[in-house]
Amino acid sequence: MIDDLQKKIEEVIDFLPPIPAVMTELLHALSNKDIELRTLAGIISKDPLMSMNVLKVSNSAFYRLPNKVTTVDHAVKLLGIKEITGICIACGAYQSLKPSQNVETFDCDDFWRHSVATGVVSRRLSQELEILDHNVIYFLGLLHDVGKVVLDRFAHDIYKVVIKTTREENVTLREVEQRLIGESHDMVGGWLMEKWKLPWTFVDVAKYHHTVKEAPEDNKAATAIISFADRLAWLHYLGVESNFDVTILTDNDAYLYLEKITANIDEIDLGKFMQELDSANEEIDEMTKILQL
Ligand SMILES: [Fe+2]
Ligand SMILES: [Fe+2]
Repeated sequence: MIDDLQKKIEEVIDFLPPIPAVMTELLHALSNKDIELRTLAGIISKDPLMSMNVLKVSNSAFYRLPNKVTTVDHAVKLLGIKEITGICIACGAYQSLKPSQNVETFDCDDFWRHSVATGVVSRRLSQELEILDHNVIYFLGLLHDVGKVVLDRFAHDIYKVVIKTTREENVTLREVEQRLIGESHDMVGGWLMEKWKLPWTFVDVAKYHHTVKEAPEDNKAATAIISFADRLAWLHYLGVESNFDVTILTDNDAYLYLEKITANIDEIDLGKFMQELDSANEEIDEMTKILQL
């Protein structure tokens, strides 16, 4: 049964600018497995902002393509269907969540930086672990925390207190959200993804990235990677000594699940992995800039 609070939060979701029409069309077209690259490029080209985003992202340091990409057609051919859809989903979500000028919000820069960092880290993890499609994983990481934006719009004054309390009391954001608002960003993020009719993996990752055990079996691996990457991204952001105690990373459901389904997670030197994340900073800066067009 939908309770009152959920109804009120969903009203806020309804008030967000809708995701671009081209995104809905794209997702619909993609459910047809035999979609041709040309059809896909045709859909994107109808939306000038989306086309510009696709070209910008394709030409960014993120992909390191050898030659400049000048047409959407070419970008689709080079990057492939899944990748291009991911770019469109990310840019569409960003546009829709962008506050209008007179709205007071929490620190959006910080928010998108953490989101991009989680995306970049999750992609590296999925490459190391050799599971799932690492480029799709990136976009799941990018959107895992969108519920925070909704909660901030829903009750900005309370959300300011939530963030402050989390820092002062050294408790998780989720706990304080539950205590002061009654619902947490993970669940709310799931509702948003459902409203946007994004593929089910996006819904599950948003909903369960703090409660991996509860994730449906089909999307548990993706959820575990994002959840683990989320921790790594935070730790990287906070800065750690090279000799930090790795049990703060391994003592959680996400790691334990990944240990069960992959052959090599125990072989990853987490200290070294953390240090190498410094080299991802350029990628993180670049993507954050691209999104904030
Ligand atoms: Fe989160
Ligand atoms: Fe997060």
